[in-house]
Amino acid sequence: MNTASSPFDLVPAPASVSVADGSFSTSGPAAVSWSGPDSSREVAELLAEYLRGDFGVAAAAAAASGAGAAAVALVQTADPAPDADGFLPEEYVLTVDPASGARIEAPSAAGLARGVQTLRQLARAGSGAGALVLPACRVEDAPAFRWRGLHLDVSRHFFSADDVCRFIELLAQHRMNMFHWHLTDDQGWRIEIKRYPKLAQVGSVRARTLAGHHSKWPHRWDDTPHGGFYTQEDVRRVVAFAARRHVTVVPEIDMPGHMEAAIAAYPEIGAGYAPVRSVRDRWGISKEVLSLDDACVAFCKNVWEELFALFPGLYMHIGGDEAPTTAWEETEKAQRIMAARGLSSPRAMQSWFTARMSEFFRERGKRLIGWDEILEGEELDPSSAVMYWRSHHKEVDISAAAKAGHKIVCAPTSFTYFDYYQAEPVSEEPLAIGGLLTLPHVFSFDPLAGIAPEARGAVLGGQGQLWTEYIATRDHLDYMTYPRACALAEVLWCGSKKPTFADFRRRLAVHAERLAAQGVRLRRGV
Ligand code: ACM
Repeated sequence: MNTASSPFDLVPAPASVSVADGSFSTSGPAAVSWSGPDSSREVAELLAEYLRGDFGVAAAAAAASGAGAAAVALVQTADPAPDADGFLPEEYVLTVDPASGARIEAPSAAGLARGVQTLRQLARAGSGAGALVLPACRVEDAPAFRWRGLHLDVSRHFFSADDVCRFIELLAQHRMNMFHWHLTDDQGWRIEIKRYPKLAQVGSVRARTLAGHHSKWPHRWDDTPHGGFYTQEDVRRVVAFAARRHVTVVPEIDMPGHMEAAIAAYPEIGAGYAPVRSVRDRWGISKEVLSLDDACVAFCKNVWEELFALFPGLYMHIGGDEAPTTAWEETEKAQRIMAARGLSSPRAMQSWFTARMSEFFRERGKRLIGWDEILEGEELDPSSAVMYWRSHHKEVDISAAAKAGHKIVCAPTSFTYFDYYQAEPVSEEPLAIGGLLTLPHVFSFDPLAGIAPEARGAVLGGQGQLWTEYIATRDHLDYMTYPRACALAEVLWCGSKKPTFADFRRRLAVHAERLAAQGVRLRRGV
């Protein structure tokens, strides 16, 4: 544990910051120069845009030249290919010299992009009205974990493409790099699929929404229809917005359970256990799942084929959580399919399906990731990654999964479910799904705890979850995300070098103002 106080109120705390005397300031036009591959130009253009937007600085990006010093010089020293798990190195060195200005040097554009976010935080204290002021310092920095993410469920409540971009912008400011977009669920299908237009036309509209908590009987309803979906053009815009910030978008199409909205649009893909006539209008787990007959599997592959063309990242999330086997146990059709495939149990239906999808993803140069239920049953391809969430299920053995070769993303309910209440008394908080996850508790998260030492190398990182059954507005989403996502960002960036909670809290007091100045309606107080 690093007990030294991290200066300049940066969140997350960089690995090392040394403070020097004085500051660099400029109040005229400011050049952001780039040298290195074309990817460094793109980061320079982004930084110039940030400096114009944040501080009104007349900033423009230009290729580095001998003449005329740049206010900020971006220097990309290499152009590496992603590693075997799809990640670029993200280290960077940021220096601010009172005479010559700022310089960010990194071996990849991803590293430059992280340094840019640190520079923006450094600048916030003194810049504005066209002036850029940066304290003299040297920052040497690199993340502890490669996967530092936030998830957003847009099925239970739809958020516009602009809101999604804003969500990505804010996570990027915390030097996070993964955005897990939960695009479909029982209560709404939110992405246009050209081959199956009814998925969006029919599957995106819920006639009514539960009012109040789903555990409260009798149920009450808000009869206003709830809808919305992203056109493929919207998706391209979001993916490009994220890519500019070196954030990877991981799309999730949750299957074979949580598919009622799709089954409402195309009933023939359902198992037929409980006929679905409309998009589900209550929360909780549905017993109706996909039939997984050959036509249904082809349907799923066709859907993913369109996603492969939209999402350039390596990881494709297949969900796989909470798929009851009842329908496969109790329908004759499923019994026939199981016999024809030689499957020993209804649970094997899902693992057979996941294995087929994993092969299919691999053939297309993609990697399957799913919630930890994909470990149940048989034959999970070792190349599939596992998102661990059921910390409340003691039988989920993540060490064994890691030893079997699966890469792991830690997203346990016990530390990362930001749909849980965040303070007591919960009666004074907005209605939430339940649970209690305070800021200090999130900060205490150690993704490697409980994982056998020899299996820890398989952990890619971690992620915070924003399930939106009870989150219907952008302000409420801000409130549930921040500041807990700040704490998680620090956990994942700093790893074993994480500063103390007291130091984090001191920096957060300043950082909260940075967020508030951007209109983020974060929760105040710890
Ligand atoms: C989940 O929370 N059902 C992954």
